[in-house]
Amino acid sequence: MKQICLLLVILVQLPHQVTAVTVQINNNTSSFVVTSNTSTSISLKCDAQNHTKDETLNWYRGNRMVDVKSENSVNSSNVCIYPLTPSDNGVSFTCILKRNTTVKLSVILNVTFSPILSGEQDVTVEEGKNIKLTCGVQANPPAEMAWRQNGSIVKMVKSRFEQSLTSDTFQLSISKAEKSDAAKYTCIAVSTFGKATREFNLVVGDKKEVVPIEAIAAAVVVGVLTILFGLFARRDKIFKKCMKSRDGTSL
Ligand SMILES: *[C@@H]1O[C@H](CO)[C@@H](O)[C@H](O)[C@H]1NC(C)=O
Ligand SMILES: *[C@@H]1O[C@H](CO)[C@@H](O)[C@H](O)[C@H]1NC(C)=O
Ligand SMILES: *[C@@H]1O[C@H](CO)[C@@H](O)[C@H](O)[C@H]1NC(C)=O
Ligand SMILES: *[C@@H]1O[C@H](CO)[C@@H](O)[C@H](O)[C@H]1NC(C)=O
Ligand SMILES: *[C@@H]1O[C@H](CO)[C@@H](O)[C@H](O)[C@H]1NC(C)=O
Repeated sequence: MKQICLLLVILVQLPHQVTAVTVQINNNTSSFVVTSNTSTSISLKCDAQNHTKDETLNWYRGNRMVDVKSENSVNSSNVCIYPLTPSDNGVSFTCILKRNTTVKLSVILNVTFSPILSGEQDVTVEEGKNIKLTCGVQANPPAEMAWRQNGSIVKMVKSRFEQSLTSDTFQLSISKAEKSDAAKYTCIAVSTFGKATREFNLVVGDKKEVVPIEAIAAAVVVGVLTILFGLFARRDKIFKKCMKSRDGTSL
């Protein structure tokens, strides 16, 4: 009798010990990437699994907690991201079991969009100086980039022209700007999601006459000193004359 009782206790307790509470997102039991384009929405549903009582779930966007209604956090919790923007790209959403924060699961957003270009469009450089045209680029998937000068492909002549691409800029460097470099430069981005262009107007100004501030200062100092010396010398003479006349009269 006692043995049967013990066996029953073990049988009743066994499932509780083996099946720990876990979470899943949109029926996935491990982290995953969800791809969508901007302006659409993404719905994420987190469910507690193998739970025997109320379990509270919290959502995090990166490392900031997402505000959800308390009734939308027991056993199951939904978040909807709308509208998706380029700044959501690469962001992770994590569902965490409040009672035991080691129980969690993440989704990484892969937000696709047509290239977006930015940057100061009116650029002036003094003849002979170096200049960089900086085209800011946001693109997912990545875009093919090119520069045009008055509509034609920029010839990277005599290494005075150089282009460089980083994760978020596409630059055209021009060294020792010449008057003939003045033109409309177009930054072009083409991806499978679309095309974008941005125009930069380069003006090459006259070489400025170099007038060093030190020379002006020195000239002013010399001029002032000359005047002071002149006055001092004259005062000396006037003073001497005075002394002479005083000598003559008083002694
Ligand atoms: C998850 O699975 C349930 C049951 O199989 C199904 O009804 C539901 O649509 C699924 N949800 C998602 C987001 O796939
Ligand atoms: C955006 O995504 C939707 C659904 O995935 C798709 O039908 C649509 O063609 C996409 N838009 C572009 C511009 O790719
Ligand atoms: C949460 O799940 C537990 C265990 O399955 C259940 O007893 C409880 O009623 C659920 N709570 C809600 C609010 O659905
Ligand atoms: C939290 O969950 C992990 C994984 O299921 C488990 O190993 C650990 O013992 C739990 N900790 C507590 C305090 O319940
Ligand atoms: C670009 O076009 C402008 C306006 O027609 C012209 O003044 C300039 O010289 C051109 N520059 C080049 C490099 O072709």
